[in-house]
Amino acid sequence: MPHDVSLIATIAVGFALAFPFGFIAHRLRLPPLVGYLMAGVAMGRFIPGFTADGALTGQLAEIGVMLLMFGVGLHFSPGDLMAVRQIAIPGAIVQILIVTAIGTGLAMWWGWKLGAALVLGLSLSVASTVVLLKALEERNGVATPDGRIAVGWLIVEDLVMVLMLVLLPAFAEVLGGRAEASAGHPSELGLFTTLGVTLLKVISFVVLALLLGPRVMPWLLRQVARTGSRELFTLCLLAVALGIAFGSARLFGVSFALGAFFAGVVLNESDLSHRAAANTLPLQDAFAVLFFLSVGMLFDPTVLITQPSRIAAVLALILVGKSLTALLLVLLLGYPLSSALLAAAALAQIGEFSFILGGLGVAYHLLPSDGLSLILAGALLSISLNPLVFAATDVLVRRARKVAWLKHQLETKRAGVLTRLEERLQAAHAAAAAKTAAHKSYSPEELAARFPLFAKLTPEQRETVSLHFKPRAATPGERLIRVGDKADVVYFISEGDVEVIVGERKVKMGPGDFFGEMAFLSGQPRSADVTALDFCKLLTLSQRDFRELLRRYPGLRGPISEVAQVRSETNLEAKERPHGKVARTD
Ligand code: CMP
Repeated sequence: MPHDVSLIATIAVGFALAFPFGFIAHRLRLPPLVGYLMAGVAMGRFIPGFTADGALTGQLAEIGVMLLMFGVGLHFSPGDLMAVRQIAIPGAIVQILIVTAIGTGLAMWWGWKLGAALVLGLSLSVASTVVLLKALEERNGVATPDGRIAVGWLIVEDLVMVLMLVLLPAFAEVLGGRAEASAGHPSELGLFTTLGVTLLKVISFVVLALLLGPRVMPWLLRQVARTGSRELFTLCLLAVALGIAFGSARLFGVSFALGAFFAGVVLNESDLSHRAAANTLPLQDAFAVLFFLSVGMLFDPTVLITQPSRIAAVLALILVGKSLTALLLVLLLGYPLSSALLAAAALAQIGEFSFILGGLGVAYHLLPSDGLSLILAGALLSISLNPLVFAATDVLVRRARKVAWLKHQLETKRAGVLTRLEERLQAAHAAAAAKTAAHKSYSPEELAARFPLFAKLTPEQRETVSLHFKPRAATPGERLIRVGDKADVVYFISEGDVEVIVGERKVKMGPGDFFGEMAFLSGQPRSADVTALDFCKLLTLSQRDFRELLRRYPGLRGPISEVAQVRSETNLEAKERPHGKVARTD
């Protein structure tokens, strides 16, 4: 070949294989990611034929993880988490402790070193949020209280794992691995100093992100959105997500995943976060596929033959150990059996964090590579079996309803705790909605409903327009425009009435009308006084923004200029016939 095309080959063959495999998986009613993992296995060095470049795929996979975590951060709702905290936080933490202990014990019984055993135990203790969300979506269960509990539980698990990813390198050497990422320093400094420095770095990064982020990021996003360019908006998001992930890894030594997660969290404060999520989704999907491919590539299928008993043990821990622990914990925390069963089904799988943790374990020479293969085998099998587990819980719930005592456990007990939980969730949503409403001017639909002028624009254009507006309130009698002044802003009335005073005549205007446009269009001073009659809510546009909008949406210029023209003619006429009546001109 004329030049090195290994990157192109990896991506092209990767997508070309992932697509049919994903499609077949979907046809088999399995999550498509099982297909991507299989495609990865086919591309790996353990299977003859095309072998993708492992190092390149690894890097592409890291981008996938960053974007995935950025997405998790973007959707992370502290309010929702707080609403389910009483069950999700203790449940997730105790469950991680129990499963990690069992997994570690199991591996040590096999004769593994503590470090390797611990990485395996931790990897098996965390379930995949991606797999759970897909399963809940299929069952329409994301918004139900049981669904919220399961999602909250997994988010706590994710957060614990993010912490583990940060701590693992610091502990690598003590646990029998090699701290190669920060060569030289840890051994000289000792464990506690390294740990202290690592935690200090992470804390300073988190504090900086949470202090500066919510001020700077939404502002930046707004400025970019106002340009109306979708491509600049997406570019800004990628620059923020990857830039923060990479920059924070360099400066603070935190993982790419943590950096990207916080980039998402700070952006999720912005009312543009839904657009941000929609814009990055395609790229996130594409790179997530590369991530699953790279994981599949690491899988050595021979473990299925050489270590069937270990795989069976790992699978039993995931399917039975984790589910039973979750089931008992939820019941112990006082929640009904149905919530416990859903949590159990939700947790009967392992996924992205297990791979990331396992991969890091291998990189730090803690986990032998066949350990990673065990994790991968556990993930592949448990994800594939997960739909069956959900189906089985449905059958159990149906059967249990027939037994009076169990029916009580399922339904009557539900009323108390779950209603309170639902109330907390609703309160959290209302608070979040109120917060966004305080920052936000209007949605594209509201803008069209209130101002017929904008009805002809596309929803996307209307969203851009609404970003240019600044809300302003006025009290009765407040003078908004003084005749003869220089023009500063154009006003759009969303609530209340104002009065235009031209000479001795008065014109009343109400919601949906606009004023203050004439001076801009003619370059003359203000032609009239305008005073608020009620408590008014107004939207204002600066001169620069007004010009920009007229330039960008020529369809707006015509109707606005026409109104201004009629107004100025009426005023001229009124000047000539001072005692005539001034007509309302719009
Ligand atoms: P401007 O001249 O910038 O500032 C005063 C505003 O009052 C003017 O823009 C118009 O928007 C509004 N105005 C002036 N004359 C009339 C009129 N006859 N009817 C309605 N509005 C008017």
